[in-house]
Amino acid sequence: MSNQANTSSDQMHSVLQESRKFPPPTDFASRAHIKSPEQYEQMHRRSVEDPEGFWGEAAKDLHWFKPWDSVLEWNMPDAKWFVGGKTNLCYNCLDRQVNAGLGDKTAIVWESEAVDADGKPNVIRLTYADLLKKVSKFANVLKQLGVKKGDVVTIYMPMIPELAIAMLACARIGAPHSIIFGGFSAAAIRDRVEDGKSKIILTADGGWRRGKAVPLKQNADDGMDLTSLVETCVVVQHAQNDITMKPGRDQWWHELMQGASDDCPAEELDAEDLAFILYTSGSTGKPKGIMHTTGGYMVYTYLTAKHTFDLHPEDPDELFWCTADIGWITGHSYIIYGILPNRVPTLMYEGGPNFPAEDRFWDIIERHKVTKFYTAPTAIRAFMKWGDEHVEKHDLSSLKLLGTVGEPINPEAWMWYHEKIGGSKCPIVDTWWQTETGGHMLTPKPGATTTVPGSCTTPALGIDAAAVNSEGEEVETNTGGILVIRKPWPAMLRGIYGDRDRYIDTYWTKVPGLYTAGDGARKDEDGNFWIMGRIDDVIIVAGHNLGTMEVESALVSHASVAEAAVVGFPHEIKGTGVAAFVILRTDMPTGDEAEVLKKELAAHVGKELGPIAKPDQIKLTEALPKTRSGKIMRRLLRDIAAGVEITSDITTLEDKGIVEKLQRG
Ligand code: PRX
Repeated sequence: MSNQANTSSDQMHSVLQESRKFPPPTDFASRAHIKSPEQYEQMHRRSVEDPEGFWGEAAKDLHWFKPWDSVLEWNMPDAKWFVGGKTNLCYNCLDRQVNAGLGDKTAIVWESEAVDADGKPNVIRLTYADLLKKVSKFANVLKQLGVKKGDVVTIYMPMIPELAIAMLACARIGAPHSIIFGGFSAAAIRDRVEDGKSKIILTADGGWRRGKAVPLKQNADDGMDLTSLVETCVVVQHAQNDITMKPGRDQWWHELMQGASDDCPAEELDAEDLAFILYTSGSTGKPKGIMHTTGGYMVYTYLTAKHTFDLHPEDPDELFWCTADIGWITGHSYIIYGILPNRVPTLMYEGGPNFPAEDRFWDIIERHKVTKFYTAPTAIRAFMKWGDEHVEKHDLSSLKLLGTVGEPINPEAWMWYHEKIGGSKCPIVDTWWQTETGGHMLTPKPGATTTVPGSCTTPALGIDAAAVNSEGEEVETNTGGILVIRKPWPAMLRGIYGDRDRYIDTYWTKVPGLYTAGDGARKDEDGNFWIMGRIDDVIIVAGHNLGTMEVESALVSHASVAEAAVVGFPHEIKGTGVAAFVILRTDMPTGDEAEVLKKELAAHVGKELGPIAKPDQIKLTEALPKTRSGKIMRRLLRDIAAGVEITSDITTLEDKGIVEKLQRG
């Protein structure tokens, strides 16, 4: 385990002596699917001792064109789930509900930050039947454009209903989608299109963010200019901003939809057919195309959504809202694929949390009477900073459960969330999982788990998790170890697109034979897990997984930059900020000139990778601290960026004078 994780482990011992405990509220527990710790333990034991029996039963809740021959075939590190079974993710999101007579029930409630002509929030409700019609139409459009089963469709869209329609249409015909978060720009689009060999991009003219239209089509154009692969680009007219349509390549969504038939039976897909690729940053090199397949992902996201959020379709008031963007795994799994099969309406919001004012989320919860709310610690910290008055203006009494995801939540933020948003009556589910895991892995079961602020508590059903040493032996209670998953689970990644060696190397070699998540963790005396952060060089900025290497590469692509080292540092709002140490090709500028250059560099990174990657701190330097073998000493840079005393061992440092210079400025 790296030094970074050891440091956090030491800190954990001194800081997190958390004794506040919150048993599930009695009335919540009495109505929950899992009502007591005993019931959870018994279900969990069974799920890990007899995974085939457990998952076989769970999968029967959903629709299969043909049942599986065997539940699991496991040849480490390759899992096949529901082998021989035929199903369809889109069918289980839509047709299954329509066929059960629920066609008129609301499937998606969409709201945009943009207001309509009367100044009212723009809201659209889509029933399962509406959605099925639109999805079938767009599935026919895709077919007509030549998209076939197995072809990768790139989606670069704002959070609009057409995004849900597009992804479900891909799932309907068996064309894996590759969704790119709208905050990424040209180079990221090129890399993902080329890696997935995708010939088609679905986008929109623009998307709303804090009162401005983000120029998505322009970004897509810039991305397409960098590659010759893309033959077709479908454009949704949404923000009405000016764009250019390239004849022969670009087509309007609404024109294509006009003539399309709404009859398109769902393709009978193999359980192991690729459902989608989603890129996540690696510590080195290009982003990894994480592959998820159809049957296992479907069953796992359905069941985790049901149990973690304790979803109740029979409750006419139930309304689930996950604030993530669909461009991240959280949005894939818990806005669309895990929620729709649960027959509970899902809310989709396009826009910023502070537009037109800092109370926008609370306003949405009050107006729509949201019952279950799922967001990220970075958002919670921003809300805390904006002040309680924005919350107090609103009636949040519809809320029954709160969730968090993406990074560790510090106990004070947890308490604020519990008291101010949850009115001290809502269980909080702090869910630990990853793009790679497809769904929740460590999480409270809200009717059964006593929660502790800062801990993601215990494994989800079917998950055998442990904190181990590099030999795979469990470490002692309250000692930091490598977080591993010891048994396959249905939504585990099936690999990295086009890179078998990297799949094995990244996940299966650090502790031979066990899935390593790349996170450090400890387990306390109650069996609760505490995540200690990444053990490699990926940093989590505002809940987004960012490869330091990617940011370094972006910096180095600027004409004035010779070398760059990027590290994370504690940031009040984002959790982790990006600090860049930059060696210039030119003479070192001073004063205003230096400031102008720093701004230019930050803007350059924003343009290359997207605004979330923009460094918060840039230090221009003549050299970087390196070991004699030439490795940058990142731990030392982390201390400098954080402005703390240097605790690292600097005996291997080549030039000791450099540290002092960097500290000075
Ligand atoms: O380090 C962990 C952190 O986010 C990483 C996964 O990032 P990504 O693949 O982008 O998926 C984020 C959304 C699922 C993990 O390896 N992480 C995620 N959730 C938590 C967390 N760290 C602590 N507590 C969490 N609840």
